[in-house]
Amino acid sequence: MIASNGYKKIAIAVFISGKGSNFKSLYKFSKKKNSKFKINLVLSNNRNAIGIEFAKKNKIKNKIINYKNIDLAEKRILYILKKNNIGLVCLAGFMRILSRKFLKKFKGKVLNIHPSLLPKYKGLNTHSKVIKNKEKYSGCTVHYVNSKLDSGKIILQKKVRVYKNDNPKSLEKRVLSQEHILYSKAVNKILINL
Ligand code: GRF
Repeated sequence: MIASNGYKKIAIAVFISGKGSNFKSLYKFSKKKNSKFKINLVLSNNRNAIGIEFAKKNKIKNKIINYKNIDLAEKRILYILKKNNIGLVCLAGFMRILSRKFLKKFKGKVLNIHPSLLPKYKGLNTHSKVIKNKEKYSGCTVHYVNSKLDSGKIILQKKVRVYKNDNPKSLEKRVLSQEHILYSKAVNKILINL
């Protein structure tokens, strides 16, 4: 598959645990002419992830990883990534921490999207915390993954207004719609020099 710049598209794998709406938007973008990537694989620790249904319907290769033993799970993931010539991993709501050992083997090639303006509000329940602290702005961040939680180098961010009558659900919805645009933009951005 050739991207509009004449180069081969980079094969990416998306790791999910649930809804997979970011995975869907990455997939839709990947079909565009100006996309520098294609999605060759979706991987989940949860066989009931809604995103896996979408992968099956759209005939995207998908794998379920048993995470009872982290070491074995990561060994299997590395094997699968290699076998499928994956050049980049995009975490999208993947609720497992990747070990330092794993990240070393896939150095600089793992991205994540987080629903806040990092470095603020790392971890879970970001929208509730933002509202509780009466922030005027929140947003989303695409960043490289390192061994510390939500702490890798930032690639792109998008600010989102928080309104007085927002609740965590309404804010989540507004931020998520921006995540769907930001993630593909960030992936394309880092692939520009490859
Ligand atoms: C998103 O808010 C993302 O920022 C966070 O987990 C959520 C995943 O949503 N890491 P989805 O599964 O992509 O719909």
